[in-house]
Amino acid sequence: MSVHVQNTRMTTTHIRQMKGVEKISMLTSYDFTLARLADESGVEMLLVGDSASNIVCGNQYTLPITLDEMIFLSKGVVRAAQHALVVTDMPFGSYQVNDDEAVRNAIRILKESGADAVKLEGGQEIANAIRRMVKAGVPVCGHLGLTPQSVNQFGGYGLRAKEEAEAEKLIADAKLLDEAGCFCIVLEKIPAALAERVTKAVSCPTIGIGAGAGTDGQVLVLHDMLGLNEGFKPKFLRQFAHLAEQIHQAVGSYVAAVKDSSFPSIEESY
Ligand code: KIV
Repeated sequence: MSVHVQNTRMTTTHIRQMKGVEKISMLTSYDFTLARLADESGVEMLLVGDSASNIVCGNQYTLPITLDEMIFLSKGVVRAAQHALVVTDMPFGSYQVNDDEAVRNAIRILKESGADAVKLEGGQEIANAIRRMVKAGVPVCGHLGLTPQSVNQFGGYGLRAKEEAEAEKLIADAKLLDEAGCFCIVLEKIPAALAERVTKAVSCPTIGIGAGAGTDGQVLVLHDMLGLNEGFKPKFLRQFAHLAEQIHQAVGSYVAAVKDSSFPSIEESY
């Protein structure tokens, strides 16, 4: 049985129904053109990740990107999505101050960008804000494990929850997010065995990145899986294409053709 039906706009209900039935695919997206290609290729969820801070803006961390910038990027992705559910990351600082502000900002994202859902990082400390967002009609995707907005606390991007105490805390947090009404939870860079335990412990689907094959779905950063970031090759990343090479070749050929005046040709001129 397949829950994912091409030509149908995905909803959070479809995503929930896919748990245990069909694996869920999610990719990041930050602009209309690549979002349209990903959407046409059948991905079920497009994540306007705050990794846009790195990928689009060239920052070292995800922390600098603002709510206005996330809304701006989301609008293009929403215009492209005919099939995929669009999830927008709540950026650092937009939900940590208090629950009222968190709910207000989550509503702003849906209202101004047209995204279908928001994602935020954390467990017990944000469970109440999530409960209130869901009550207000905002679908929420959780995010546990390596949470890049806390890079200054963790001191890097290493594997999380290797020790049993942190693993137990992560499972407890996942249960809280599930009870708070999250329609899915991203699990980033944790041991595969722990991701399987979490997946069995919650009723909503889990979406893994660097969390092994036992989750209900997978997410990757689109630019990374397309091989656009040549230097970035963590163990969990499979490059499904090597577009950096092709772009270097194409741009190099263009520069050479301009220099030797073979571009534009008569046929390419008016
Ligand atoms: O911002 C992002 O790209 C993410 C994914 C890594 C899940 O949160």
